[in-house]
Amino acid sequence: MSTTLTPILTKFWDDPQSWTLETYERNEGYKALKKALAMAPADLVQATKDSGLRGRGGAGFPTGMKWGFLPPPDGGPRYLVVNADESEPGTCKDIPLMMAAPQFLIEGCVITSYAIGCNHAFIYVRGEVVHVYRRLLRAVEEAYAAGHLGKNIHGSGFDLDITVHAGAGAYICGEETALLDSLEGRRGQPRLKPPFPAVAGLYARPTVVNNVESIASIPPILLHGADWFSDMGTEKSQGFGIFSLSGHVKNPGQYEAPLGITLRELLDMAGGMRDPEKALKFWTPGGSSTPLFTAEHLDIPLDFESVAAAGSMLGTRALQIFDETTCVVRAVDRWTDFYKHESCGKCTPCREGTWWLKQILGRLEHGLGDEEDLEKLLDICDNILGRAFCALGDGATSPITSSIQYFRDEFIAHLTEGRCPFDSSESTLFHKDRVTA
Ligand SMILES: Cc1cc2nc3c(=O)[nH]c(=O)nc-3n(C[C@H](O)[C@H](O)[C@H](O)COP(=O)(O)O)c2cc1C
Ligand code: SF4
Repeated sequence: MSTTLTPILTKFWDDPQSWTLETYERNEGYKALKKALAMAPADLVQATKDSGLRGRGGAGFPTGMKWGFLPPPDGGPRYLVVNADESEPGTCKDIPLMMAAPQFLIEGCVITSYAIGCNHAFIYVRGEVVHVYRRLLRAVEEAYAAGHLGKNIHGSGFDLDITVHAGAGAYICGEETALLDSLEGRRGQPRLKPPFPAVAGLYARPTVVNNVESIASIPPILLHGADWFSDMGTEKSQGFGIFSLSGHVKNPGQYEAPLGITLRELLDMAGGMRDPEKALKFWTPGGSSTPLFTAEHLDIPLDFESVAAAGSMLGTRALQIFDETTCVVRAVDRWTDFYKHESCGKCTPCREGTWWLKQILGRLEHGLGDEEDLEKLLDICDNILGRAFCALGDGATSPITSSIQYFRDEFIAHLTEGRCPFDSSESTLFHKDRVTA
């Protein structure tokens, strides 16, 4: 655990022109690439394995091991696809990173592509963030002009092109196989696995799909060494990561720190709760699809193992903080609305289940229904969890089951009072009239 920040990817975000190649090169940019091009690709894969870097996109799969799954070269193309679709409610690290310092990602793409034998990499960026799309396009242009991309990069004989692709704004396209379908021009829906992308990914060719922050972490790791990275964090969750604090906190934003830091420590650095008089009520450790935590979890080390042992998931380190003024039923109802809307419809448990979850939660939030509805919610969640085709369905159940676990009394209070106890306005009846299911 640590009480200090480790500004690495966030180091020069305050620079007036942080996004330019010139700023990046002033801050050791592209030194790691020179080092990489003098190494054998297999040694780069090994160095990444040695660093202990685990995917920063949510699941925490070891990055070097993923690269090592690619079959031996057969003369055909192999691809790197960067997952820049960041759409999980609360998750806000990749978009600021690409906005403030896009060259980390581009240098990471070149090094990774060289390591895995790829000559064409793709960055699939969430469609709504047009400003980030434009920034990436410009950053790629700058990298080509400086000879960091294109043919015979720095005389190494290695060629790489990068295509920046804007999605159309669907959360499911962050799921790696749905992303690949979307990139191929199809409707974005998850594919059956196996085959995994490492064997048959983009255009059925061997493909590595990695998160923005995973790939952006590669240049600093290579430059400073695997040991430098693995010395940070915990034994099994090594290195640093960007923790995004949002909600009822005095100074929301990105805090780059070693894995294993606690929310209590992060809150201290972020100036505490927005209103110090109002107690912390609940929070998400890794975005809305990770089970809620409460004030009793303030000292859980935020690493993959400790968060899982406490009943949640580290996910994308999206720490959404809610104080005692927040109605947990309302917050969960809003998230469920999101999952219902974003369900791709491919499988029945999620397509039908998220719709029914939303109907019941909407009623409960307005004080309608009865206690049996809580059991119905849990029963529907049970029918989704582990039975849905992809993790979106599982994620939709997390806020519901965890909120009932910790705040059952608050659900009941809605029923007893026949209204939301947090809603002091006279509009409750109006809301009730609008609830039809
Ligand atoms: C519904 C859904 C949305 C996801 N969205 C993202 C995303 O926006 N960015 C991301 O990197 N991974 C996302 N993932 C995880 C990816 O499927 C994949 O695990 C990740 O891109 C792998 O990269 P990593 O190993 O570097 O973490 C999502 C998964 C699901 C099920
Ligand atoms: S779980 Fe939901 S998002 Fe995933 S395939 Fe099924 S319907 Fe689509």
